[in-house]
Amino acid sequence: ELGPYSHFMQKEIHEQPKALSDTIEAVLENGFAAGLFGARAAELLPQVEGVKILACGTSYYAGLTAKYWIESIAGISCDVEIASEYRYRDAFANPKHLVVTISQSGETLDTMEALKYAKELGHSMALSICNVRESAIPRASELVFYTRAGAEIGVASTKAFTTQLVGLFALAVTLGKLRGRVDAAAEHDYQEALRQLPGSVQHALNLEPQIKAWSDKFAAKQNALFLGRGLHYPIALEGALKLKEISYIHAEAYPAGELKHGPLALVDESMPVVVIAPNDALLEKVKSNMQEVRARGGELFVFADLDSHFSESDGVHVIRTPRHVGVLSAIVHTIPVQLLAYHVALARGTDVDKPRNLAKSVTVE
Ligand code: M6R
Repeated sequence: ELGPYSHFMQKEIHEQPKALSDTIEAVLENGFAAGLFGARAAELLPQVEGVKILACGTSYYAGLTAKYWIESIAGISCDVEIASEYRYRDAFANPKHLVVTISQSGETLDTMEALKYAKELGHSMALSICNVRESAIPRASELVFYTRAGAEIGVASTKAFTTQLVGLFALAVTLGKLRGRVDAAAEHDYQEALRQLPGSVQHALNLEPQIKAWSDKFAAKQNALFLGRGLHYPIALEGALKLKEISYIHAEAYPAGELKHGPLALVDESMPVVVIAPNDALLEKVKSNMQEVRARGGELFVFADLDSHFSESDGVHVIRTPRHVGVLSAIVHTIPVQLLAYHVALARGTDVDKPRNLAKSVTVE
């Protein structure tokens, strides 16, 4: 079942070009049509005036990424909340807001209960982004987008996350289209970005030997920081969660601009700092954050784009992701942090597919 791979996690990381192609297929065939989200979507999506995303763990980070797309592409407000928090607070419900739950398994108890609570509060439009057909959460939702990642066995979620991002991106563009903010030319560009995505992800997978070469430097560490900005901040969060889950290294992620508001106090020679630094509008800002780290002796591990000017120097290690895919760059930049966590865990000899204390599907509180 594992083929040439040593663990399900590694296999599932490598399955991403296929999982993404399968998930994208319908969008490439039919464009960003409401029908992608189920039979009632043509009736419900035009009524949507805002989005509330509810999820846990990695799926929550997919939601945080989606907020950037939904607000910039669809031009409507989007808030994202951890399901276990939402379900126990006196929340404000706007029935014109679409509740979006994100869940690989479709059975996560906190997410299911948050959905039920949203319904009690008066929400009547719920969309489930899910990888398991006919599981509990999509069955309780009016709308559904099934990711086509195939079965995910490793406890650490990988291909489910990147395919969730595709579903959420499709939602942002579809809402943008319905609101007259995405014209035919823009729709074509977004489709083209999706078409190129599996190839870009494959290029990122080819970085595995270079990433493996970094893993020994991490294996002896107790702590690590991950930094990103904008769309890449949630990817930094995801990288830190992956590292925590399977290598048991304490890892935290921050938006790079927050460093000087506290976490910089943690940085010294023993702190590795992973930076997601694609060549986007925030790159210069990220570079100055990196200088703040270097000045305190922190060792930098930078994922940069091929076309950006970064040089390796003492304490600064750089891996270049081969191709930048604009608005979908967050998906491509997920691959290196997954591979890093995997190889650090291997170097530490942990049980990669079944990390201690964790279950694949969290159906209890
Ligand atoms: O099945 P779900 O997507 O609802 O699961 C949510 C989280 O339990 C899950 O993403 C968890 O954080 C993973 N172990 C992350 O790798």
